[in-house]
Amino acid sequence: MKKYDSQLCKLISKREIAAGFFDFTVYAPEFAKAAQAGQFAHIKVGGHTLRRPISICRIDKTAETLRFVFQIRGEGTAELAAVSEGAYLDILAPLGNSFPLFEREKKALLVGGGIGVPPLLELAGYYGENSVAALGFQTASSAILKADFKNAGAKVMVATDDGSAGFHGLVTDMISDTECDVIYTCGPMPMIKAVTKLAKERSVLCYVSLEERMACGVGACLGCAVKLKNDGAEYYGHVCKDGPVFDYKEVAELE
Ligand SMILES: Cc1cc2nc3c(=O)[nH]c(=O)nc-3n(C[C@H](O)[C@H](O)[C@H](O)COP(=O)(O)OP(=O)(O)OC[C@H]3O[C@@H](n4cnc5c(N)ncnc54)[C@H](O)[C@@H]3O)c2cc1C
Ligand code: FES
Repeated sequence: MKKYDSQLCKLISKREIAAGFFDFTVYAPEFAKAAQAGQFAHIKVGGHTLRRPISICRIDKTAETLRFVFQIRGEGTAELAAVSEGAYLDILAPLGNSFPLFEREKKALLVGGGIGVPPLLELAGYYGENSVAALGFQTASSAILKADFKNAGAKVMVATDDGSAGFHGLVTDMISDTECDVIYTCGPMPMIKAVTKLAKERSVLCYVSLEERMACGVGACLGCAVKLKNDGAEYYGHVCKDGPVFDYKEVAELE
């Protein structure tokens, strides 16, 4: 398979797991074979020229499927949510780099905020009972994938902004005492900044997935520019091609 070949993939399962949150499984043998945790797919929706980037939430190499969990945010994701089970989706995948994986015995702390939670599920599958998933949501009704992280073996901690489920407050206030060897995080930038601050204080490895706006998705435009840092020198990289996963020390805004 050439890199960047798109394929029509059958939507074999579609569920609305919370109001406005959809869980899609597509049959995609070649993509599932190649995909790794942290990568994303670029999905064509309706007549829009620009595809919509959605993280790969789960990879099943035996069933040859990919799972995506997304929230309706605008026209494109609303159109995607309206696609019927059995229909075919035009998908470009797997794109971007992936989360680096260490020995399964390492203690992994997965910190997700809102729709930044889905890309961390594959990591829970990898680290199993050595992972702690700290998941932050606005409110109980949008607290998605808790059971999935638990079934993958992770210890799950939930925080909500309004206190309607789990810890009342910020997800980062819940993890100040959680021991770990490596942190993986995805979610809103203020949360990512708080997580990387913690990683810095503890001198722990920390990888962030940046879900910035994108256009082409394959490094051909400047739709996803991010300021990076190497040996003190700053330069612009592309989230779609150089990321979406970065060691936080490489991202100028986080270092
Ligand atoms: C690498 C990557 C992985 C992503 N993974 C997921 C995922 O697993 N699940 C999921 O629900 N969403 C994910 N997103 C965000 C998703 O791509 C956007 O929500 C979607 O493109 C919005 O399209 P739209 O046409 O519905 O909305 P638009 O009409 O284009 O925008 C509507 C709203 O969504 C916001 N928005 C638009 N694009 C993005 C974006 N790229 N990131 C954050 N907010 C955006 C806008 O600020 C606006 O408020 C990911 C984005 C990236 C870059
Ligand atoms: S979206 Fe075009 S270069 Fe990244």
